[in-house]
Amino acid sequence: MLENIKQNFEQVLESDQDASDLRSLSISLDTFYALSSAIEVGIFQGLMQPKSSSELAEELGLHTEITDKLCKALASRGYLFRGGSNYALSDLARTFLTESSPFYQGSLIKLMQRTRAQRWSNLSRALKEGPIAAPSGLQVFDEFFSLAMAEGAVGGPLQRTIRVLKERPEFHKARRCLDLGGSHGLYSLAFTRSNPELEVVLFDLPKVIDGAAKKVVSDSERIVTMAGDFNRDDLGKDYDLVFASDVLYRQEESLRPLLARIRESLKQDGLLICKHFHIDDLISDSSAVLFDLMFSISGTGGVVYSSADFCRLLVSSGFSVIQVEDISSSVSPSKIIMARKVQD
Ligand SMILES: C[S@@+](CC[C@H](N)C(=O)[O-])C[C@H]1O[C@@H](n2cnc3c(N)ncnc32)[C@H](O)[C@@H]1O
Repeated sequence: MLENIKQNFEQVLESDQDASDLRSLSISLDTFYALSSAIEVGIFQGLMQPKSSSELAEELGLHTEITDKLCKALASRGYLFRGGSNYALSDLARTFLTESSPFYQGSLIKLMQRTRAQRWSNLSRALKEGPIAAPSGLQVFDEFFSLAMAEGAVGGPLQRTIRVLKERPEFHKARRCLDLGGSHGLYSLAFTRSNPELEVVLFDLPKVIDGAAKKVVSDSERIVTMAGDFNRDDLGKDYDLVFASDVLYRQEESLRPLLARIRESLKQDGLLICKHFHIDDLISDSSAVLFDLMFSISGTGGVVYSSADFCRLLVSSGFSVIQVEDISSSVSPSKIIMARKVQD
């Protein structure tokens, strides 16, 4: 390596090559660790009222010098402001990083950190040895995961989904809807708020229903919960709509039987509304490409389909696709694919 530099030293000295783009990756990673540690120890909550880093460190029982450097680092990235010796929250931090805000993203950030530690750190090993199974007994879909999914939803996808659905006459005419793998229930809640005559069945694993879901929907008269495994338990029937958001990342052999069960649960002419990441363009859908790679590290069998392949699967499972709506943001390349049940 060094020999190579030495041999080509004239060329190196005269060149205007700049590796800043690569260097910026590690700065993003450093920032991510600073941010997730700050959330974990309560820096943003502690700064609801401006104070100095030493007051903050004392209040939270933290190391004074490292806390001061962390505050400087957070200020350098726009999460805090420094005025004199005091630090205060920026608007960004107040909106997304304080627990009392409805837009809080702290659990999602903690989940991202956990995913990096548990999955991404195994990529080189997986490339050499094949998928590295998660430790046995590890529950992916626990209450914390539901909370993180809820924060992900209110960060934009929920609002964009509701806007699209409100445009469809079928949504307003619908009386029964299944929110499959509905987790936290925020989509169910938004559906009943947008259609006053709609009843929603929120279906998820028992642990999820008894945990996060009940907290959101237990006082909603038009939302009932159903706990079970959607691969084998009864899904109910006579639905006008089945909504599935981020639940159908499955290999074709397990997806087909699930699509058949969904179809069975719908009324004639009922609509299946799917909201998922799709890979239609490697560059613009790069976060979906990375998500698909992440599935392969732990060999969970997760698949991110192109929207064309997903539509083909729907058509061959007895649906006709009636609308594909791009609701992507730069980090969430989601599409809503609506498909009508074809008459038996
Ligand atoms: C990625 S989360 C999506 C949550 C929600 N739909 C959203 O978009 O925010 C997937 C959900 O599917 C549920 N799920 C996964 N496998 C399931 C199964 N076999 N039966 C029922 N629910 C399941 C999980 O518990 C989890 O709540």
